[in-house]
Amino acid sequence: MSNFILEISYLIGAILFIVGLKKLSHPDSARQGNSIAAAGMILAIIATIFFHKDASGHGIGNLIWIFAALAVGTGIGYLMAKRVQMTAMPELVSVFNGLGGASAMTIASVEYFTNGSTAYGFLSVLFLSLVIGAISFTGSIVAYGKLAGKVKDISSNALTILNWILLAAIIILIIVAVFNPTILGGSGILWLLLLLSLVYGVLFVFPIGGADMPVVISLLNSLTGVAAAFAGFLYHNQVMMVGGVFVGSAGLILTILMCKAMNRSLLNVIIGSFGGGAVAGGGEKGEQVVKEIGITDAAILCGYASQVCIVPGYGLAVAQAQHICNDFEKQLESRGVEVFYAIHPVAGRMPGHMNVLLAEADVPYPKLVEMDDANDKLPNTDVVIVVGANDVVNPAAEDEPSSPIYGMPIIQAHNAKNIIVMKRSMSKGYAGIQNQLFFDPKTRMLFGDAKDSLGKLVSELKSM
Ligand code: TAP
Repeated sequence: MSNFILEISYLIGAILFIVGLKKLSHPDSARQGNSIAAAGMILAIIATIFFHKDASGHGIGNLIWIFAALAVGTGIGYLMAKRVQMTAMPELVSVFNGLGGASAMTIASVEYFTNGSTAYGFLSVLFLSLVIGAISFTGSIVAYGKLAGKVKDISSNALTILNWILLAAIIILIIVAVFNPTILGGSGILWLLLLLSLVYGVLFVFPIGGADMPVVISLLNSLTGVAAAFAGFLYHNQVMMVGGVFVGSAGLILTILMCKAMNRSLLNVIIGSFGGGAVAGGGEKGEQVVKEIGITDAAILCGYASQVCIVPGYGLAVAQAQHICNDFEKQLESRGVEVFYAIHPVAGRMPGHMNVLLAEADVPYPKLVEMDDANDKLPNTDVVIVVGANDVVNPAAEDEPSSPIYGMPIIQAHNAKNIIVMKRSMSKGYAGIQNQLFFDPKTRMLFGDAKDSLGKLVSELKSM
């Protein structure tokens, strides 16, 4: 009976994951999708604790320890999620992803010591779970450091070669370990594999930087899913396998989309360290002047335009200007101006960052135009307003082969008839390079915090 309840709970849990994942694909239903998938996970955990029986019919036991650990973990997770600033969300997601990898790594280690099976299939899955989980763990921690600006990109040919040697050594050791798990005496090979994988996780993310971070973040996401799926296989736990496969495949699809968004192959990102050690600072052309615009002139330019395009970027998230941006859009529309948002797939610091922010402010989804369609519209757009975006509108990606972002598709704001750029200073974007768009004769800079400037523009439009 217990087994029946367990199987049914896992089946319901897996169905809830599928429904949740489906709903996550649209901003309107994403919040609900998250809750549904979380309910599936809670069901799977509770069912496992109360209904799992071993071969001799004994339950899990150690319930006090399990619930104490659950309470501590839930408490820490809740507090971290509650307290995190919206702008630090990508860092938090990286840390949580790393902890998923660490869990898979720990499960594999525990199974190595307790299971005792020497079947090749079992050992292959065990060592893969250990290695992929460990790489994802330390890789995600380094990614967290990079997103938080605490870890700098380090890139050199020697590091690339070292990474290839490490990867080859890990693959060879896995094969050796599967056929002879005690070749180094006791559990020596397990510890060696663990150490090399932890080091490889750090070194493989070190050189990838600048504009390439979106690819590495989604790749790490996918790796954690794969590691969890393998760990589920070790326990014959279907719901864990299903969950892991979903995360792994969703992460892989996202990785492919991010590669497409950056116009790069995955191999190229991993071995090319594009952006990281490249010519940061490229795009500088000696002494150049920028033109500024005041609030009144900016309001007149937008208020009498027939079409305005808003290009949001990371600065919109920093300023938390999404709500006032929506008010600005409504003010323009009340004057008969057609407004649309041009969304770059890697704008911000996490996949879908701009979609999430604008959905939070109830901006209607059809107003968010994808990059290619937006670029078709921009030559006929009277005013493009760049709100805290930088790299994603940098023309160096199209016309400076020496630039670290060369080849990345951009929102072609430079093709619009007038360009207004809202930012606080002339400082550079995430890739660390100057932006020639700011010096374009059609561009005028509206310096200041985006929320503040948009608020003033709304007041000005109301009084016009
Ligand atoms: P960025 O190139 O990072 O530029 C953001 C700009 O916002 C900065 O130049 C900054 O200039 C401005 N800003 C900051 N706070 C502001 C505020 N309060 N008010 C007004 N402006 C403000 O942003 P982007 O164009 O969105 O490009 C994203 C970059 O991040 C890409 O290089 C991308 O590859 C990388 N990245 C993306 C992801 C994902 S998954 N999306 C993950 C990691 C990295 P001031 O300081 O002068 O104001």
